Amino acid sequence: MSYVIAPRDERTQPVRVIPGYPQTPWRNPKQPLVKRAPTLSELTGPSNVSRRVQLLGGDVAGHGETQAIGQLLHLRVRVVDEDGAPVGGTVVEMWQANAAGRYIHPNDDDHAPVDEHFYGAARLVTDDTGSFLLRTVKPGAYPVPTKDGWWRPPHVHFSIFGRVWLSRLVTQMYFPGEPLNAQDRILNAVPDAAARERLVAKLVPPTGDPYNALVYEHQIVVRGRQATPAQP
Ligand SMILES: [Fe+2]
Repeated sequence: MSYVIAPRDERTQPVRVIPGYPQTPWRNPKQPLVKRAPTLSELTGPSNVSRRVQLLGGDVAGHGETQAIGQLLHLRVRVVDEDGAPVGGTVVEMWQANAAGRYIHPNDDDHAPVDEHFYGAARLVTDDTGSFLLRTVKPGAYPVPTKDGWWRPPHVHFSIFGRVWLSRLVTQMYFPGEPLNAQDRILNAVPDAAARERLVAKLVPPTGDPYNALVYEHQIVVRGRQATPAQP
């Protein structure tokens, strides 16, 4: 079955080169784009990604004696397409810093401490309603290692495959009320304020689970006019 892909909306997507983020010039074309029709395989594949990759559970916060340090969160995320229909059975990857703002990654040599009970990344599949649940801790803010030193607000990275290759979305989720949101260069690289708002999760009442986690809900739209903005 083919799938119609709407063109990128520059107003609701971030500028391609973000000042102060050295990787963005490398990740974007320096020459004008050449227009071409999408290929059939781009519009119909991939299929069965969830069977081809190793899934890692959506629990990165540890348990009991080995619980990660930080504020325990349940993130309830729903993935929909540009028509609002749930995108079930799609592979979602997430990664985030620990509560101190440190990633599990060899490139992160920040002074913030490593937490051996925090797993840092997950790979899971949405259910029939396009939803998945992530149990994690609130990520810490961290300084960007550039000469002028600015800080990223707490955020969670997501990669969503969507229905086909062309609907793959790499983005970030932010937390409401964070003072660093207003000055974050990556969040604010999205020109449209309403589109930026679509990157911020909503705090909802806790469910009273045994750990009494804070609960946030978030919706990710993989393409179209209401698309969740991409984030590097
Ligand atoms: Fe990050």
